[in-house]
Amino acid sequence: VARVLKVLALGPGPAAADPPTLDPADLALLRGEGVFETVRVYRGRPFRLGAHLARLAASASALEIPLGGLDLERLAARAAGAAGECDALLRVVCTKGVGDGGATAAYAVLAELPDELEEQRARGLVVVPLTLAVDPLVRAASPWLLPGVKSTSYAVNMAAQRAAQARGADEAVFTGLGGELLEAPTANVWWRSGRTLFTPAPDTGILAGVTRAVLLELAPEHGYRTVEGVFTAEDLAAADEAFLSSSVREVMPVVAVGGDATSGFRPVGDGRPGPAARALQAALRAAAAELRSAG
Ligand SMILES: Cc1ncc(COP(=O)(O)O)c(C=O)c1O
Repeated sequence: VARVLKVLALGPGPAAADPPTLDPADLALLRGEGVFETVRVYRGRPFRLGAHLARLAASASALEIPLGGLDLERLAARAAGAAGECDALLRVVCTKGVGDGGATAAYAVLAELPDELEEQRARGLVVVPLTLAVDPLVRAASPWLLPGVKSTSYAVNMAAQRAAQARGADEAVFTGLGGELLEAPTANVWWRSGRTLFTPAPDTGILAGVTRAVLLELAPEHGYRTVEGVFTAEDLAAADEAFLSSSVREVMPVVAVGGDATSGFRPVGDGRPGPAARALQAALRAAAAELRSAG
């Protein structure tokens, strides 16, 4: 777990809480009824904070967590500022509180980036498809299954990462009952065929990643067409290259995909990090640098 640099809290309720406290009966702890965002901080500035807070508000609305009166933007900016000139991760968390009339608690945690990111980016990840046992289109049309909601109920996602690692891979990619490719437990998935980049559409119930949206914006400037739709794990394995995207990992190459127990791992393309991942990673960093120079 990355070292925590700073914790700031509001509440329960809009007042600052110092030191930060969380009620042991908070429904986020007891039932996973909380929402969160993980934001990249580049040299003390949160990247695409507005998009993250908009998604947080949508997630909170799905869980009926009231956010009225909470100045999350100020909370986030203050916590991010504690990074000084360093890059870091900022988590903004809102919990349901103790229920019936209990106020929402909000807090921000600034933490160091994981150590292994650049080593992983250089070598690329091995992923294994694991079923989420859902029909993606039914899930997307069933609000109680919380499609596209970033809640604190990530135990399934973490268990999938452990299952992938137990199979000798770095990471999982979830598939639907019909073999539809969905997303990784904490990242969106992409692959390239020629000059076209493919990524699953949000109407499969995946999380609409903030980084995913940035890459959809940046790709055409770098000569790549983008297509969102419903695809399968086979498409990933047969691609010229593949990568994941997230605020934490930015653009992370995928170099091999696991099959069933008998078929082992298959290289994606030439089995090395590919040119689209490299170009988009550089473009993402350039967009972050622009944000800094824009003040
Ligand atoms: C399930 C899931 N999909 C995708 C993502 C990537 O989203 P973002 O680019 O906003 O970090 C995340 C981020 O944590 C996630 O948890």
